[in-house]
Amino acid sequence: MAQRQFNVDGVRLACEDVGAGPPIVLLHGFPLDHTMWNAQIAALQSNFRVIAPDLRGFGASQLAEGDAENGVGMERYAADVIGLLDSLQISEPVVLAGLSMGGYVAWQVALRWPDRIRGLVPCDTRAVADADEPRAARFKMAEAAMQAGNSSPALAMMPKLLGAETREQRPEVEALLRAMIERQTAEAVAAAQRGMARREDVRGKLDKITADSLCIVGAEDAISPPAEMHEFAALLAKSGDDDVRITEIDHAGHMTPMENPAAFTAAVAAFAKKCYRL
Ligand code: MLT
Repeated sequence: MAQRQFNVDGVRLACEDVGAGPPIVLLHGFPLDHTMWNAQIAALQSNFRVIAPDLRGFGASQLAEGDAENGVGMERYAADVIGLLDSLQISEPVVLAGLSMGGYVAWQVALRWPDRIRGLVPCDTRAVADADEPRAARFKMAEAAMQAGNSSPALAMMPKLLGAETREQRPEVEALLRAMIERQTAEAVAAAQRGMARREDVRGKLDKITADSLCIVGAEDAISPPAEMHEFAALLAKSGDDDVRITEIDHAGHMTPMENPAAFTAAVAAFAKKCYRL
């Protein structure tokens, strides 16, 4: 693995940058870091250049002053992704995958910088904004993390992140995920929760996205269920200029790339090959 670090708008951001070929960018979910993509990073690098950032505050990436208190908007994380691509001198359009929170960020990249997107892979994510109750729960978790001085309040998400089969039969996946959450900071949790609480409902804008898309969801996803994916995939297809495909992956809950890495990676690799005409 080759970690690289860049200063983007005064903030040190880190990303994995491995392999050679057309680029695939992987945006992690909350409250995680780029290591959730380890299986994909390992497998895709033989055909692609794989860029897996740590979003601002997570993993080895810093926050700016005030981010924890004010929250980091999905637009800001998206601008960071573009800043990283600029630092890496990748100006060609990329295949961009984002899981859950990474998906919220990917929508903003695709809507604000359409010329930078060759193909979009929204995974286990949502297009709708939060209802009042989950929004309030985000502010609560942000406060609880800051009070605890660590990410422990986010561990409450664990039961919903993985499918029943993974929890029962693959305890090593649960252990990896728990350790990943535990090593994130209180500030990163607070910044992201406050940012996600204020994120916009993008459903009315999805017909503006003309890049081809592959929408992926774990069949047992309890956070962003398959039915929601089918709804936003139909909205994406409304532009008529793009090819929108959907893939439901068995033996997986919300953390599809970790729970069924082989099926997930194969779907992304086939889509990227199609996008790049390989
Ligand atoms: C994630 O996996 O990124 C989170 O479930 C996103 C969210 O809390 O909405």
